[in-house]
Amino acid sequence: MTGRVTVDLLDRSYDVIVGSGAVVELAGLIPPGARRAAIVTQPGIPVTVDPGVTHEMFEIGVGERSKTLTTVEDLCRRFSRWGLTRGDVVIGVGGGMVTDVAGFAAAVYHRGVASAYVATTLLGQIDAAVGGKTGVNLPEGKNLVGAYWQPTGVICDTDHLATLPERERRSGLGEMAKCHFLDGDDLAALPFDQRVARCIEIKARVVEADEREDGKRAILNYGHTLAHALEIAGDFDLRHGEAVAIGLVYAAEVANRLGRIDDGRLAQHRAVVESYGLDSILPAGSDPDRLLALFASDKKATTDVTFVLDGPSGVEPVVGIEPLILREALGAMRP
Ligand code: GLY
Repeated sequence: MTGRVTVDLLDRSYDVIVGSGAVVELAGLIPPGARRAAIVTQPGIPVTVDPGVTHEMFEIGVGERSKTLTTVEDLCRRFSRWGLTRGDVVIGVGGGMVTDVAGFAAAVYHRGVASAYVATTLLGQIDAAVGGKTGVNLPEGKNLVGAYWQPTGVICDTDHLATLPERERRSGLGEMAKCHFLDGDDLAALPFDQRVARCIEIKARVVEADEREDGKRAILNYGHTLAHALEIAGDFDLRHGEAVAIGLVYAAEVANRLGRIDDGRLAQHRAVVESYGLDSILPAGSDPDRLLALFASDKKATTDVTFVLDGPSGVEPVVGIEPLILREALGAMRP
């Protein structure tokens, strides 16, 4: 059974089709008039798609090291040799890395061709494939070059999640844990497929309110300031969502110290993260000085370190937190 979440962005609105067997609905998300579909994917993604028009596969490398401008240039050159036109469509089939790269190639090829995604990982389904962020890494940092480029539709087939490697599944669960705190509802009460759909709906409402992250969209980065620091400090030993899970509990520790949330709400953060089998403490050997230094170099920081924190008005960005509070909260997270 499938459901549909609409991301309402006026003339750029699109549907996300979610549920078991959703992939058969891909052809209905292709823009009318597209005669060809360039399918961008990676070796080893066990998903076949039928966009209903002439199509060709374009494989890219696996892992963050392939998430580069060189990969985008290579894709665009292959699109051109194949004869992809402005009226056609690029379809990303894979996890967040694939949809970020495919979407960015679509955003720049011929100054923009339509894109659609079949998100095959939990993290891709509830986060990366929805909302129009696309991009690649530079040697200087992750996702430093990109564009907002909304797709014409997204497929989130929950049957695809059964094939996920354990670490990849855990990574998606970290982002799912985050969604428990972005809205008032009880996600734990929902069956898994409905929970996926609800996470997508929560994200869609945020993107509709602030497509280009001028304000509210920053709440999607809840738990991410420590997460990014842990990913860099550990040389990406932790998967993104595993780091986000730890970051959520840390953000709650900071909010609790600032008097923004009570002990019960802090305990709730720990309980949600642990209910997904994820760690709620720092990895062994974490160096607080290094983590504090990495907070300051976070890409999202413009003038001051910004933390997204829970509080009486819900989750929101907060600036100007005393370094001592940040250090004490790290101390509370030691293994
Ligand atoms: N992944 C965060 C966002 O889409 O804004």
